[in-house]
Amino acid sequence: GAVPGKQVSTDPFTPVAPNRRDALTVPAGYRLNVVAAWGDPVVPGAPAFDVYRQTPEAAAQQFGYNNDYVGVISLSTTKALLVCNHEYTNEEVMFPAGEYTAEEIRRIALMSHGMSVLAVERPTATAGHWVRSASSNVRYNRRITGETPFVVDGPAAGHDRLKTSADPTGKRVLGTLNNCAGGTTPWGTVLSGEENFNQYFGTAGAIPATHAASYRRYGISASSERGWYQTWDRFDLAKEPNEPNRFGWIVEVDPLAPDEPPVKHTMLGRFKHEGANIAIAPNKKVVAYMGDDERGDYLYRFISTDTYRSGTDAASRRHNKQLLSKGALYVARLTGDGLEDGVWDGTGQWILLCTDTVSNVPGMSVADVLIDTRLAADKMGPTRMDRPEDVEPNPVNGRVYAALTNNSNRGSSYPADEANPVTRSMVRSAPGAELTAASGNRNGYVLEMQPVGGHTGGTFVWRLLLVCGDPAAPETYFAGYPKDKVSPISCPDNVAFDSRGNLWVSTDGNVIGSNDGIFRVPVDGPHRGKVESFLTTPIGAEACGPLITHGDRTVWVAVQHPGEGGTFAEPIGLWPHTHRYPRPGVAVVWKA
Ligand code: FEO
Ligand code: CA
Ligand code: CA
Ligand code: CA
Repeated sequence: GAVPGKQVSTDPFTPVAPNRRDALTVPAGYRLNVVAAWGDPVVPGAPAFDVYRQTPEAAAQQFGYNNDYVGVISLSTTKALLVCNHEYTNEEVMFPAGEYTAEEIRRIALMSHGMSVLAVERPTATAGHWVRSASSNVRYNRRITGETPFVVDGPAAGHDRLKTSADPTGKRVLGTLNNCAGGTTPWGTVLSGEENFNQYFGTAGAIPATHAASYRRYGISASSERGWYQTWDRFDLAKEPNEPNRFGWIVEVDPLAPDEPPVKHTMLGRFKHEGANIAIAPNKKVVAYMGDDERGDYLYRFISTDTYRSGTDAASRRHNKQLLSKGALYVARLTGDGLEDGVWDGTGQWILLCTDTVSNVPGMSVADVLIDTRLAADKMGPTRMDRPEDVEPNPVNGRVYAALTNNSNRGSSYPADEANPVTRSMVRSAPGAELTAASGNRNGYVLEMQPVGGHTGGTFVWRLLLVCGDPAAPETYFAGYPKDKVSPISCPDNVAFDSRGNLWVSTDGNVIGSNDGIFRVPVDGPHRGKVESFLTTPIGAEACGPLITHGDRTVWVAVQHPGEGGTFAEPIGLWPHTHRYPRPGVAVVWKA
């Protein structure tokens, strides 16, 4: 499985050992700072946070809950804008019992979703240490919530299936929900994926038969733990059956244009979008890689019709912000070349679903392909993957890396194939406990795809770079690197690259006896596959981001749902230890 490549030098650090601490643990010699956490003021004039006096109006001005994607847009050598997603809310940890009505909790929760844009700065042009700006550039500070108006664009904009009684145009949606991972575009905007949007919808009434098949494929059902339909008609499937069609998109936000409404791009399809990451092909077309995070769902690719302009002038930026509106959408099929060669590898092809004017799916219009992308892809024979999460092109070596988190049903309801080979995994229930066998793929993979003919080509060569888990487990594989020299890793979720092309992976849902964390993996040279744990997140949390910026001096990490598994009254963790309850927050880590 070795891939020739140049030697990649890496700064040495002592890997962080697996642990269950209530701490963000970094290697010796590194420091950290929490840049922003739940409740911090974002919009100028925002009220101070008080956990006992939460209101929707205050939440709409403060840093939201459960930060996930982290993007950083440079303004100068010492100033930048931090952009991050607020994926979902943990009401059981956010609200003291008995202090709020169910209605109040829903209204505050809606405003605690969305995104934040926040001015940040560092003391010198070489520092790794970033803090929130108190006054500089705060005019860019912005909260996008579950009620912020979005413009819908692309071929499905204005389609009857996107119209509701509140929006007869089908082109204006209130809010973004469950924004998971994302990507920063070469033109300086941020893309964000609307992921598990199904959970916000429900009804006490009847689901219209016309919508049932689509709802089923997206996991939308009458029952809803959140009960938002009791507060807002638009979340009631019987009353507004088209409202779910207005979520599940890639959204684009321009942090430099705080007054411009963010956009939902229908051309990139509708599914449980993890994120979208862009490469510019040699012909200047824009290629976006995407994953649909569900067991057995697919990898996708978009290619723009128009070409990228490299200028940063207003006209070029305006042009580039329309690149995701027209193009072609593809889904991936992976074919193995057999296991005789001892590696999980093979070839892949991108199957066209539609362009902005022509559908390639029998019996479905362009708008139907884009709104019911899962149903469209089902007809075209793609490969059912183990929860495709972040998919990102490596800007140094040109290959594309996908995190495939896990699939406990692989080998039962999902037959194994060469790209999804693990049907039995070794797991452990607690730190230091014995490894025991569990059915399915519990620890996930990192998939490496090498485009043939560049990012706009029709095919690729693929191989599993990592079969994750404890190195002591027989099924694990680290690109052939000696197993006694790697850190255990479980459930890869997000991927990023440093300036030398090293892969960084964050995890969600470790099942081998440790908190989640962030890992560095060289993908070229003699240390290809050498997984090293750079940090671990606090108890209950998953590690999000990650982002490596500014000459690799700064590692950004979003600590999502610290203390999840506890309640406000009985917390299992209190990170970042500023209050008597945990707070999701974005931290920077740098070498002292
Ligand atoms: Fe929100 Fe797929 O993780
Ligand atoms: Ca093979
Ligand atoms: Ca994720
Ligand atoms: Ca996740």
